[in-house]
Amino acid sequence: MKRIGILTSGGDAPGMNACIRAAVRSALAHGLTTSGIRRGYTGLAGADAIPLNRAEIRNIIHLGGTILETSRNPDFYTKDGRLQAAAAIEQMGLDGLILIGGEGTFHGASLLAADVDTAALIGVPGSIDNDIYGTDYCIGFDTAANCAVDAIDRIRDTARSHERLFFLEVMGRTSGFLALESSIAGGAEEMVVPEEETSVVWMSERIREGFSIGKKSAIVVVAEGEAPGVSFDLARDIKKHLDVDSRVVVLGHLQRGGPPTLRDRVLGSTLGVAAVEALVDGQSGCMVGEVGGKLVRTPLEETWQKKKSLNEDLRRVFAVLSE
Ligand code: F6P
Repeated sequence: MKRIGILTSGGDAPGMNACIRAAVRSALAHGLTTSGIRRGYTGLAGADAIPLNRAEIRNIIHLGGTILETSRNPDFYTKDGRLQAAAAIEQMGLDGLILIGGEGTFHGASLLAADVDTAALIGVPGSIDNDIYGTDYCIGFDTAANCAVDAIDRIRDTARSHERLFFLEVMGRTSGFLALESSIAGGAEEMVVPEEETSVVWMSERIREGFSIGKKSAIVVVAEGEAPGVSFDLARDIKKHLDVDSRVVVLGHLQRGGPPTLRDRVLGSTLGVAAVEALVDGQSGCMVGEVGGKLVRTPLEETWQKKKSLNEDLRRVFAVLSE
C-alpha cells in the first residue's frame, strides 16, 4: 500500500473535514501518499484528484461541508460508470480508496468493488440521517441534531408567547433518528417518524389536552420521510380536529451546515484514523464504524442492505416524557 485516495460523496455532513484531516495525517504517519478526489463519484470517474498533504488539511477541523466537495452520481449503478471509475483508479495509481458518505455511497462502493481489483475500498459513515447499519452514529448527525434542538428552543419562545402549536420538520429521509433525539432533547410534545404510524385524531386529542391543563405551547417534531414538506399536510389535517393557532417551520439544509460539534469532530477523527488502519491491515470492502463504543468493520453490502432500527430505549424515553 503506497498511494491512497479519499473522497466524500452524497450529502455533505459536518465532521467530514475532520475525517479527511485525520485520514491524511494518519496516512502520512504510515508513509502513504494521499490524493483527494474532488466532487465524489463524479470526480472519481474523471480522475479529478489533488494532492493532500499537511498544508491542504491545515485549519479545516472546524469547518462544515467538505473541502473535497461532493455529488450524487447515479452512474455508479451502471456497469459503464463503474468501469470508467475503475480505469480512473488505476490511472491515478491508487492502492486504496476511502469513501466518506452514506447509504448511496456504500451501495455504489459495493458494486464498484466487483469491478476494481487494483485498489482496496474502505467506507466511513458520514450522513446527518444516521441511517447506516454498522455504526451507532454517523459523522454529521450530532451537529444536525443540535441544530434541530437549537431551533426547537427558539421556536418555543415564540410559541409560548402566542400560545401556538408548531410543526418543526427535520431531515432524515426514510428514518427518524434526527427527529427522535431532537424531540427528547428539545422536550417536544409529539413526534412523527416514518418508523411509526401517526394518528391525526389521537395527536390532536393529546395536544388539546395539553393546552387544557395549562400548556402554553406545543411542538411537534416531524421527520421529513419520503416527502419533504409533509408537515404542511399534517398541520392542515390536524386543523380539522383542533382549534389551535399553528405554524410550520421546515429546517431544511440549515441542518447540514455549520461547524461540527465536539462529538462529530471526535467521531470524524477516530473513523479517519480507523479507515487508514483498515487499509494498512489489508482490509477491503468494509466500512469502519463505532458500535457500543468499540471500533468495528462491517461488510459494505450490509451497511445498506440491513436496516438500522431506531434505538428502542430512546423511543421509550420519548414515550414516557411526552405522556
Ligand atoms: O441524506 C442527507 C439529506 O440531508 C437528507 O436528510 C435529505 O433528505 C437529503 O439529504 C437532501 O438532499 P439534497 O441535499 O440533495 O437536497
